[in-house]
Amino acid sequence: MTAHLEHHNSVAIIRIDNPPVNGIAHATRAAIAQHLQNALSDQLITAIIITGHGIAFSGGADIKEFGTEKTFADPALPALLNQIELASKPVIAVVNGVCMGGGLELALACHYRVGTSACQLALPEVKLGILPGAGGTQRLPRLLRMETCVDMITSGQVLDSSSLRGTPLFDFFVDDTKALLGSAIAFAEKVATVRPIPRVAERAVIVAEDPSLFEQKRLELQKKSPFLPAPKACLKVLEEGTQLSFAEGLQMERNAFQELLSSPESKALRHIFVAERAIGKVAGIDASTPTRAIAKVAVIGAGTMGAGIAMNFASAGIPVKILDLQEESLSKGLYRIRTSYQSSVSKGKLNQAACEHALSLIQGVQNYEEIADADLVIEAVFEQMSVKEAVFRQLDQVMKPGAILASNTSTLDLNLIASFTSRPSDVIGLHFFSPANVMELLEVVRGRETSAEVLNTALKLAKRIKKTAVVAGVCDGFIGNRMLAQYTKQAAFLLEEGCTPQQVDTAIERFGFAMGPFRMSDLAGNDISWAVRKARKLSKPDEIYSALGDLLCEAGRFGQKTKAGWYDYQDNDRTAYPSEFVLVLIRQHALEQGYAQREVGDEEIVQRLVLALANEGRKIVEEGIAARASDVDVVYLKGYGFPKHRGGPMFYAQTLGWETVSQKLREFASGHRGETWVF
Ligand code: 3HC
Repeated sequence: MTAHLEHHNSVAIIRIDNPPVNGIAHATRAAIAQHLQNALSDQLITAIIITGHGIAFSGGADIKEFGTEKTFADPALPALLNQIELASKPVIAVVNGVCMGGGLELALACHYRVGTSACQLALPEVKLGILPGAGGTQRLPRLLRMETCVDMITSGQVLDSSSLRGTPLFDFFVDDTKALLGSAIAFAEKVATVRPIPRVAERAVIVAEDPSLFEQKRLELQKKSPFLPAPKACLKVLEEGTQLSFAEGLQMERNAFQELLSSPESKALRHIFVAERAIGKVAGIDASTPTRAIAKVAVIGAGTMGAGIAMNFASAGIPVKILDLQEESLSKGLYRIRTSYQSSVSKGKLNQAACEHALSLIQGVQNYEEIADADLVIEAVFEQMSVKEAVFRQLDQVMKPGAILASNTSTLDLNLIASFTSRPSDVIGLHFFSPANVMELLEVVRGRETSAEVLNTALKLAKRIKKTAVVAGVCDGFIGNRMLAQYTKQAAFLLEEGCTPQQVDTAIERFGFAMGPFRMSDLAGNDISWAVRKARKLSKPDEIYSALGDLLCEAGRFGQKTKAGWYDYQDNDRTAYPSEFVLVLIRQHALEQGYAQREVGDEEIVQRLVLALANEGRKIVEEGIAARASDVDVVYLKGYGFPKHRGGPMFYAQTLGWETVSQKLREFASGHRGETWVF
């Protein structure tokens, strides 16, 4: 049974018990319905409480059952909630903790609601590409202002229950969680004989104070999430509900819910929900794996990366020393940190006290002895093995025993780096993404000898600094950059075949990327990838790539910073204007090399680029560099702006079907530069 029935004198208590978050699975619905029936037919029972076992009231409908026949099997959630609402005895929701989605809808269908003042409430269905499908869009606006409902339901934001004090959503709050049930039972005994029983469905919708609310929100949502149907559908159902009876509103909501549930966008978002939780499951790490305490951190190198990395720790309240041997670069780095925090204050993202506190935790130092007692040191120096070698040999000499030695390398061999020390089991890769204080992704690179304890410590620490950590094995570029190399290669090959940069960018932006590869490269600086290519030429002289990027840089077109790159730019204007110079450069190169020119359609552009990612991702999983395909998706979603509604490159390939993908790859392999497709 996933719900139990208890009795407390004349009060029946239905306790949802479906760990980990009391999800309302089919079996849970059946158990609640059965207990409700028993309590209603028991003459000795005068009131019924529904509450959750453990720390949650309910996290909502069971997401893992979506897409199976259990989702709509009897008793369906809307029918169960109607049964509760129409019950002849008062039903009281006792909200003991997290109360979300179908869980909140269950509480709304009850006649009274009491809760702890510190529980989290949300209708987060929109984040799964659906809408509240069990009356949430129709019951909530009968209790809260329409403005609040629109915000809550279209964003899925989580509210603290105490912020709803004074609204009819809760009859009362109990601050002490332990006293909650006792108070609720006393309340249930008091209202047992009160008639008529208050029912949310019988209340009128609280209409919006601002008549332009829906129109304004529609425009905002179109701008913010043009590719997602769910936020717009939430708004539509809320708006139309104001013109319909409660029963009609419920039916409309149900129809919209069913339609969204089978949409590709919802499937993608549900995949992401599961993928984000799967990344934490790492081979060799479990609840018994120890961790080391991290109270002091050091960062080597005060460049853009080092400064950004240090900010993560200071923002999380962890003291951090930045070591740079060059006085000028140290003071530049510290200045960069100060201005970055101050700009957050002026944008209202941070208060002054928090800014000062974070700054007080950062200290610049110039010799290794001063960082010797750090629990973790992260190297963020120039990306060259000889430079890394010198740093790690030094760290091995000075750092206290047990200190974790991390490298922020994005491409180099971590096993080799570890071999420069006498303690390779303490060495790990922590690959931050630029800007390191903003980007959510952290690739945690597990070296051949990295100990489970060190890895576990890094994973726990990632949570403290609010990063999404994905574990990667050692290879050139790890997960993200190794895949990116194939993507950018294909983008340049498309130019050689006859595409323009704007054609490639527009096609991939229509697919959902915020920026195509060429606009992105102009923003990041074409000289950066040029330097990487030059270095790679030394280590991999036979690698096939397009020379177009090199020719562009040889012409001094480094991107936005030189007002000329793949596009032209004007003063104080980031708009990318097509460049005649670049078009001539591309055509001339193609002519010189004898490349056949042809019209390439948008669909092929998208598939060439996205399947280049997926094909490399597949190899990464096969080689064990990533533990599972969904980890690869998380890397691309969190670190490379892959469109959420597509679920990630691996999910995209899976929705096309790997059979179809193989066929496409064979086609590409017989085309221009086909030899670069290794599958
Ligand atoms: N159904 C099934 N499993 C769920 C679940 C749900 N609604 N919510 C969470 N879980 C599972 C997670 O998958 C995870 O499982 P795992 O251990 O096997 O990986 C486990 O519970 C713990 O989840 P978290 O790691 O996220 O735990 P937290 O303590 O950090 O967060 C939470 C708990 C706030 C409840 C968070 O899990 C959450 O936001 N859940 C989603 C809530 C949601 O979207 N509810 C709406 C569901 S759709 C719905 O109700 C439709 C209705 O309108 C008809």
